[in-house]
Amino acid sequence: MTAGSASNAGAISGKAKIAGVMGWPIGHSRSPRLHGFWLRQYGIDGAYVPLAVAPERAEQAIRALPALGFRGCNVTVPLKEIAFRTVDRLDGTARRMGAVNTIVVADDGALEGGNTDGFGFIENLRAEQPDWTAEQGPAVVIGAGGAARAVVVALLDAGAPEVRLVNRTRARAEELAADLAAVGLGGVTAVDWVSRETALDGASLLVNTTTQGMAGHPALDLSLRALPVSAVVNDIVYVPLETPLLAEAKARGNRVAGGIGMLLHQARPGFKAWFGAEPQVTPDLVRFVLEG
Ligand code: ATR
Repeated sequence: MTAGSASNAGAISGKAKIAGVMGWPIGHSRSPRLHGFWLRQYGIDGAYVPLAVAPERAEQAIRALPALGFRGCNVTVPLKEIAFRTVDRLDGTARRMGAVNTIVVADDGALEGGNTDGFGFIENLRAEQPDWTAEQGPAVVIGAGGAARAVVVALLDAGAPEVRLVNRTRARAEELAADLAAVGLGGVTAVDWVSRETALDGASLLVNTTTQGMAGHPALDLSLRALPVSAVVNDIVYVPLETPLLAEAKARGNRVAGGIGMLLHQARPGFKAWFGAEPQVTPDLVRFVLEG
């Protein structure tokens, strides 16, 4: 990158705006690199630091943010539900997701909890496949963990008429569908793992939210035979950038979207709230984040 290449690039003053990312472990997080790129690009007097916080101390650490002068922080695995229970105010999205990934310390010192994972997911799809809209048809979501919940809420909020939720353990898919119905989000059907291939029939979007296909894991065990060629296929896994699922989808003519953009786009609202600038996701940023 060229922006911020002056000799004091990255230097901060005593007035620096401070934010960070809290998780356990946190060493693998790409968020400090991501926000660091934007801080240098915009020449902002600020810092974004990794915060390794064990789950049993997370509430205490979150409560300490205003006292430490933090503008807020991101929260990642496995602390998003603890953050949900700890903050003073929740926005509607965080409430529907049952998890907080972005905390902003308000002017009155209160902790405001939001969740931008779904925003990141939708913005990435829109950036990669501008012709895609959620209203176009049923979506098939594979997996039923925290990432799946954010994806399903975002799809329903964006107008998806139906979400077919496929999980190896059917009970988890049913539980998630019931949780969402309880917050007013209908339209989610739990599908048996053995029926996953027929669930693709007539779908306009397929999303993998499981760890299958990630480096070190086997590929997702899913034949795409029944998936319309007009469907968009999105994998939220981004190591490797092209998972076996995306390679197969591309080869048969489906439009695809990778996973790295979800991480980059979910970071935008927090950066804006803490540091004041509206950051952009660019190819340079993608390269820089992946190099780290
Ligand atoms: P997160 O909250 O980050 O999404 P998670 O709770 O560990 O992560 O969920 C991982 C998802 O990957 C789950 O839906 C899991 O399915 P189960 O609920 O049956 O465990 C799914 N998953 C993990 N290994 C899998 C495998 N070998 N085949 C199919 N799905 C798998």
